[in-house]
Amino acid sequence: MNIVLTGFMGSGKSSVGKQLADVLGFGFIDTDQMIEQDVGMPITKIFQFKGEPYFRKIEARAIALVSMLDRHVIATGGGVPMNENNMHELEKNSVIVHLQVTPETVLKRIGHDHKRPLLKTKDPLATAREILRKRQRAYERCSLAVPTDNHNVDAIVQTIVKFFREHDS
Ligand code: S3P
Repeated sequence: MNIVLTGFMGSGKSSVGKQLADVLGFGFIDTDQMIEQDVGMPITKIFQFKGEPYFRKIEARAIALVSMLDRHVIATGGGVPMNENNMHELEKNSVIVHLQVTPETVLKRIGHDHKRPLLKTKDPLATAREILRKRQRAYERCSLAVPTDNHNVDAIVQTIVKFFREHDS
């Protein structure tokens, strides 16, 4: 059984994921990094030169690959749950955890960095609100939702570990 972390950009999937993997003695893998290696360019450049539909295609391929793993913590890009087939693949051998975050916190955490092409707009806060609204239903499909706004990484990791131990059969 794996643990998949999803949630909006800036929800803490990478930092939570690495610590979670350490605590459980699991491997850690990040699908954005897989995509960058696969295509041979950073995410921003993939969006710029190849476009979002191409990115989503490569992302779905990465999801199909990580779905075959076991005993891994898998950090995914925030758009992964929007594709029904991605969720279907992941659900076969993973507990899927949604790291919840408000748009205000997203901006505080990642407003200054330029690695998120979807937030490169005139009004990133409005954009974050709009994307979150569109994704809400898809995120609700996850088995566990963990608020992250006012919680530190240790507390989030402990919540997920407890849930996983109760559900790992
Ligand atoms: C995206 C999130 C990014 C990355 C890409 C698209 C999204 O990953 O996959 O920029 O659609 O929310 P992070 O959530 O790790 O920032």
